Amino acid sequence: MVIRTVLALAATLAGLTAARAQDYPTKPVTVVVPFAAGGPTDVAARIYGEFFSRTLGQQFVIENAAGAGGTTGAQRAARAAPDGYTIFVHNVAPHVAGPALYPSAQYDPVKNFEPIGTLAFAAHYIVVRKDLPATNLKEFIEFAKANPGKLNYGSAGGGSATHLACVLFGQQAGVNIVHVPYRGTGPALNDLVAGTLDFMCDQGLNMMGQYQGGTVRALAVAQATRFPGLPNVPTSAEAGLPGFEVSAATAMYAVAGTPKPAVAKLVETMKAAYKDPALRKRIEDLASEVPGPGQDTPDALGAFTVKEAARWNDAIKKGNIKAQ
Ligand code: MLT
Repeated sequence: MVIRTVLALAATLAGLTAARAQDYPTKPVTVVVPFAAGGPTDVAARIYGEFFSRTLGQQFVIENAAGAGGTTGAQRAARAAPDGYTIFVHNVAPHVAGPALYPSAQYDPVKNFEPIGTLAFAAHYIVVRKDLPATNLKEFIEFAKANPGKLNYGSAGGGSATHLACVLFGQQAGVNIVHVPYRGTGPALNDLVAGTLDFMCDQGLNMMGQYQGGTVRALAVAQATRFPGLPNVPTSAEAGLPGFEVSAATAMYAVAGTPKPAVAKLVETMKAAYKDPALRKRIEDLASEVPGPGQDTPDALGAFTVKEAARWNDAIKKGNIKAQ
């Protein structure tokens, strides 16, 4: 009798938990962003967060947990309860590079996270302060060569995509440049506009507004084709630095172990977001792209995360890249 009652109770509880997971979300969801507000990861998270809030009827609240190139926030998310009420939006390169660059970072970028989907792909641009005496990339590289150790660039911290992109730029252009880390690309861009920084290897997602306002200049896009929304910005190859190609992917992950119905609901909402014309326009207006066919699934993000982890770990070892 007692055993039967206990079993019945257990079955009821299991049923309730399943029903609760099906009803997900029943309260606000925290979206951990590991960089400062106003930067590209934050902006993409807010654009999608609005769509998720509207579609799922609960607020998706952004929490900026910046520091240590994004590893502070990644650790915060990795340790959160796997109940679907903490999710994580990060830029894939710093996400996977973090543990290799910060020995104190206690998280596994693949094992501790469940891929939901990519929010945006954004090429990096060489963006300079508006009064820098160089009108194109060739002149800029000559200027940097004539001033070794003098030109400074801002990034979102050691190991962030804006740092890694500039490390590659420095290696490929053969220039000695100085890294100034910030807690996010948003605050770094403010200093580029103010003229205290010389340049950045920034994402379109961040610099588009300032570029359009004429407060910074873009000398090249680090990809093989020009971005349609920025037809006057040459590719790195056209501008004289072939092979300098870097693009950022901003992605959403749940905490590993999150109940399957919650993961399924997040994935379904992500797919609906990709089809929303207003959301697509907001992303495209920021010189970025919503994932296309073949890139628009959690499996594609999972495979990309694994591939990027191998690529950046290798680059960090070979290039002896340090967090600073
Ligand atoms: C980066 O890795 O540089 C980030 O995307 C920065 C940010 O979002 O602020």
